[in-house]
Amino acid sequence: MQQRIQQQLAKLKQLNLTRKINYKQQVAGSYIYIEDSKYIDFSSNDYLGLSQEKTVLQAAKEALDDFSLSATSSSWVNGLSSIHKNLNDEICRWLEAPSCALFSSGFMANLGTIESLCNREDVIFHDKDNHASLLSGVKLSRCKHYRYRHLDYNHLAQLYKQFHKKHNWIISDAVFSMSGKNANLSKIASLQDKNCGIIIDDAHGIGLFGKDGAGSFSKQGVCYLDNTVHIITFGKAIGSMGAAVIGSKETIEYIQQKANTMAYTTAMPPAIAAGTLKSIQLIRNDESYRQKLFSNIQLFNEILTTYGLIAQASESPIFKINAKSIEHSELWSRKLKAEKFWVHPVKPPSVANAGLRVIITARHTSSQLKLLGKAINATWS
Ligand SMILES: Cc1ncc(COP(=O)(O)O)c(C=O)c1O
Repeated sequence: MQQRIQQQLAKLKQLNLTRKINYKQQVAGSYIYIEDSKYIDFSSNDYLGLSQEKTVLQAAKEALDDFSLSATSSSWVNGLSSIHKNLNDEICRWLEAPSCALFSSGFMANLGTIESLCNREDVIFHDKDNHASLLSGVKLSRCKHYRYRHLDYNHLAQLYKQFHKKHNWIISDAVFSMSGKNANLSKIASLQDKNCGIIIDDAHGIGLFGKDGAGSFSKQGVCYLDNTVHIITFGKAIGSMGAAVIGSKETIEYIQQKANTMAYTTAMPPAIAAGTLKSIQLIRNDESYRQKLFSNIQLFNEILTTYGLIAQASESPIFKINAKSIEHSELWSRKLKAEKFWVHPVKPPSVANAGLRVIITARHTSSQLKLLGKAINATWS
């Protein structure tokens, strides 16, 4: 067995498909410290910079004092606190949604939702570029499934027409994590009838888009139907960790009864729930975080367009800049790191074509963005 593992690992290394895990020593504003070097961080999903916001940290500290470090058991036992209840209620008010259930991470929310809702005889239609956690959920469900070409809704409609059965599901990211592109939720919803459910993972849209940052449904004017499920995660714009699944009262109650990734795992720590709640309240009540982020996104679009590095402007904080090969993306990233810009290379299987993935946050200054654009251009070759 060890021999096989060694051989498989050697193959990954030979194909240049291994990843290095880096350990941060400190985080301060838009800077991170790794191996005694200080970098401007362009790989953080903390889009609004709320993970460092004083009032968010204070709320978490108070919950640590009142409820200890751990939830101490799963939701099914006695893992949830009054803070979790407040968070739950706040999310329902924010999204104007009937009901919501908390999970310890987005990955677990996706696995648990798909596994519990999609019965084995159902058919699933899902975007080819969906996040790995959605794909893992589909595999876990053991349903027959069809992957439509990325964002190609004609292809989805064609597959749907040909292969749908009594109960069907369409599953998509709302904002694709590697390219920053948006799914067209109205087109997806147009296929929905009473025997078709849709599950939308809004990990990269929640907190950013729509009224008061309520996410991609709000931005695209899509309403919740009974068989619509909206999954939001707290590890990106909300600056925390965990996730919530939003849907009809019965759907959420059913997920709470059936999702193994909720029933058999320790619940989200109360301090995380408290920080998450505070962060959501800031997003709802103070537009300035989003305004700063979107003005940074606009500036960075202008910079990259001037250098001819992107063909299309990004509508989200995620910028994918294509490289010539995996080796090129890694060399490019190393050159940028040598100049103290922490920019991550992305490669298969995370993306089809290797490149740089740059994340812009509200904590970046315009001069940091200009310096990065210049450095990306200068280190391309
Ligand atoms: C689109 C998408 N869905 C789900 C997840 C998983 O979320 P979490 O980090 O909370 O497990 C991620 C995180 O990378 C993501 O990008």
